[in-house]
Amino acid sequence: MRVLLVGGGGREHAIGNALVRGGAELYVVSKHRNPGLARLAKGYGLASETDVEKVLNYAEKFGVELAFIGPEAPLEKGIVDVLEENGIPAVGPTKEAAKLETDKTFARSLMERYEIPGRKLFRVFSDVSEMRSWIGDFGRPVVVKPIGLTGGKGVKVVGYQLRDNEEAKAYAEELIKKDGKVLIEERTDGVEFTFQVFTDGKRAIPMPLAQDYPHAYEDDEGPITGGMGSYSCSSHLLPFVTREDYEKALETLKATIKAMRKNGTPYKGILYGQFMLSKDGPVLIEYNARFGDPEAMNVLPLLRTGLLGVAEGIVDSSLGKAEFEKKATVVKYLAPKGYPLNPIKGVKVQVNEEAIAEAGAKLYYASIDENFTLLGSRAIAVVGIAETLEEAEGIAQSAIGHVKGELFYRRDVGTRESVEKRIKLMKELGKDFEPNSC
Ligand code: GLY
Repeated sequence: MRVLLVGGGGREHAIGNALVRGGAELYVVSKHRNPGLARLAKGYGLASETDVEKVLNYAEKFGVELAFIGPEAPLEKGIVDVLEENGIPAVGPTKEAAKLETDKTFARSLMERYEIPGRKLFRVFSDVSEMRSWIGDFGRPVVVKPIGLTGGKGVKVVGYQLRDNEEAKAYAEELIKKDGKVLIEERTDGVEFTFQVFTDGKRAIPMPLAQDYPHAYEDDEGPITGGMGSYSCSSHLLPFVTREDYEKALETLKATIKAMRKNGTPYKGILYGQFMLSKDGPVLIEYNARFGDPEAMNVLPLLRTGLLGVAEGIVDSSLGKAEFEKKATVVKYLAPKGYPLNPIKGVKVQVNEEAIAEAGAKLYYASIDENFTLLGSRAIAVVGIAETLEEAEGIAQSAIGHVKGELFYRRDVGTRESVEKRIKLMKELGKDFEPNSC
């Protein structure tokens, strides 16, 4: 089957690989030529992923029978609606359904209206003085969020990016002046984790849990990025996420899918729940309407069921089972020095692909062109897969040494110490649990 993949990052390289492994004939449209995808694809169109008309033209030119949308920005533009109106079924939610990610007011209101478990207290303000007085009365630390897509960079939390609720008021005022509205939520303390499911609008097929490292530097310091790496465990849980927490988080995602159906905005594709594990259980922080990047690279190499079959099940509403190998994974991203604030661009890097393969690691290309020139965002990911987290981390680490250039990465992604730090934090918060092995 001829399949069009939209997007050219590391996530999409992993999706493209899994589609080809599952028997697809691959075509790609993205704004740069990803060297990994270029090798897998029978045809490659260069266009902005949000230029829906151009993507449609390529889809028609390539004669594809199915499309798979990688990033969120084209979903916000209604790419699925346009492709489907033109007879091309697509994996991904419609513009309305993608509001789960693209409009935080929609997401929070849906949770409230349908009493979806795992929700947190929130308010939306368009009036500065109302916002100021509510935060003043609330007293406890808050989170300030822009309403729309921000590439993960606009959310600010009291105690982290904001000193106190006074700074939160000032930032929220700035957002009201810029966007007309702002979302204020109560702060939940705990450890974040990622739960992705495939859904055809009715069923939810869970994928292994993963943990992302959003900060740029070691020990969770520095600016927030798209994610500098991530790990997953052979149990498909995480060391600090118990089976009971897992079931609760899955219930949140299943209830969301059901609510979307009742709401008249049925949701199909990949639903990504970003959860905060509080001492009382998982709380939904945000939905994403697509695979995580890097988290797609944790789960897709483990997928035993062909992704093409899963994709067909999603668009035909006949989703069956999807099985994942019981292995641990560690993804480490290499990003240009200075990323995310002031990244080096336009310089070449050297990648010894053979040595990376010999080290037993997988390699995914992202923001880098066919001449191996850095384009400014996360450039290359290496993935270790093994029986234990320690082995997987060792494999990823040894592969990193075979990429040379003006790049940096986080040594601590998936290390024992960084996992222990998260277990310790949960214990300090008063969670009573026996850590799962990983
Ligand atoms: N890694 C976070 C995301 O994909 O949104």
